[in-house]
Amino acid sequence: MQRTLVSESTKKIGETVTLKGWVNTIRDHGKITFIDLRDRTGFIQCVGKNLEKVTTESVVEITGKVVERPEKLINPNIETGKVELQIEKLKIFSLASELPLPIDTDGYDIDENVRNKFRYLDLRRPRMNKNIRIRSKVTQFLRNYLINLDFIEIETPILTKTTPEGARDFLVPSRLQQGKFYALPQSPQQYKQLLMVAGMERYFQFARCFRDEDPRSDRAYGEFTQLDMEMSFVEQNDILDLTEKMFSKLVAEIFPEKQIQKSPWPRISHNEAVKKYGNDKPDLRKNKNDPNELAFCWIVDFPLFVEQSKDDFFHGSGTAKWAPSHHMFTSPHPDDIKHLETNPEKVRGLQHDMVLNGLEVGGGSIRISDPKIQEKIFKLIGFSEEQRDQFSHMLTAFTYGVPPHGGIAPGLDRFMMAILGEPSVREVMAYPTSSSGQTSVLDAPSVASDGQLKELGIKVK
Ligand code: AMO
Repeated sequence: MQRTLVSESTKKIGETVTLKGWVNTIRDHGKITFIDLRDRTGFIQCVGKNLEKVTTESVVEITGKVVERPEKLINPNIETGKVELQIEKLKIFSLASELPLPIDTDGYDIDENVRNKFRYLDLRRPRMNKNIRIRSKVTQFLRNYLINLDFIEIETPILTKTTPEGARDFLVPSRLQQGKFYALPQSPQQYKQLLMVAGMERYFQFARCFRDEDPRSDRAYGEFTQLDMEMSFVEQNDILDLTEKMFSKLVAEIFPEKQIQKSPWPRISHNEAVKKYGNDKPDLRKNKNDPNELAFCWIVDFPLFVEQSKDDFFHGSGTAKWAPSHHMFTSPHPDDIKHLETNPEKVRGLQHDMVLNGLEVGGGSIRISDPKIQEKIFKLIGFSEEQRDQFSHMLTAFTYGVPPHGGIAPGLDRFMMAILGEPSVREVMAYPTSSSGQTSVLDAPSVASDGQLKELGIKVK
């Protein structure tokens, strides 16, 4: 028999239908049993006599007649609250054992390792289920929006070379070239800039980024997703405008209950933010307890350099005084180029951070497209000849006709965390890595077999 969805059942009063889904709850009153059946569209109360024994979370098919409930039994809290299904036939596809964790609560208090080990059950939790569905709506909106503006979606390699975003790389050993390693990209930064040289003009991608850095509530360990964008022939203002319009429309369409506190979004210089709020991602909400208040702002005019600390991994010898405050492809402010050699601390970068409710939800910049300036930056950050050569492909590419370009990469996980008011990015990811670096369900990292190691020419000490 054809399947009817729970949400369609209210339009089928008097008809016999077949529903398929999970047993959400069972209330056994002796002869009469009430089963709340759940599918992807909602819940419905089903009632039957002398039913075969079934457990909660079992997967079943129920055939029966949809009838109206008497007035006083209407449940206004569920969409199907005016009807119920009179069970004629109950077929059990799969009988469920008792679950190792409750899924009818919000789940915040359950041990992270248990939630991750049984993530496929944790995702049945209504809150998690909703988060994953809204995330899909958000990506669909963003994709359509950008495609309509003539952006093209381009995938870039995952097996690649080290990219300088400031964290440790994940390395993948090569079998064909023993002793050599790929690095997983910390972001597609160089590839997207090279796509501008290739004449693509407007690029985006939902890019998986890999960073080996200490996790925090707003920082996933291992991997996360950016809406990575790059545009040619733009100035900083064009990037901010486009991004601001896109996210404002997204809020209006997908989160109509939420209000953006101030439009256009305030643009605050880095200097002013630090002076006024003590940090560069101020939370400008008037009432931090209101889940529907969204305070976006832009932070601009960052210093191009910060004093180098020995904890920086990517730029080298650790002997130079300066490190890029964002990444080394960020263009200096044209008015400040004169200070580059004499007073690097005075140079502002054409960098922009997008902030929402106190979280940095995106970052980007106008890029350097003059190889001579890029060389100067390499020198200032203490690159050796060898390190410079690692990026020579960028310098070479820029000698063959490079458009002025820039972009931004909103972090999808962090944006979802902020807009849903979740306490951690892991609450908006289907399969997050735990804070100790263990993956959900599949329990990686794990030991490689002797045969695998031998093929790779690797010995574990
Ligand atoms: P950046 O390193 O600032 O810029 O990253 C951009 C955005 O990605 C998100 N993000 C993270 N989200 C979850 N977990 C993490 N570990 C994590 N790290 C970063 C943040 C951040 O604002 N290539 C540049 C972008 C550009 O210049 O266009 C880049 O990656 O929301």
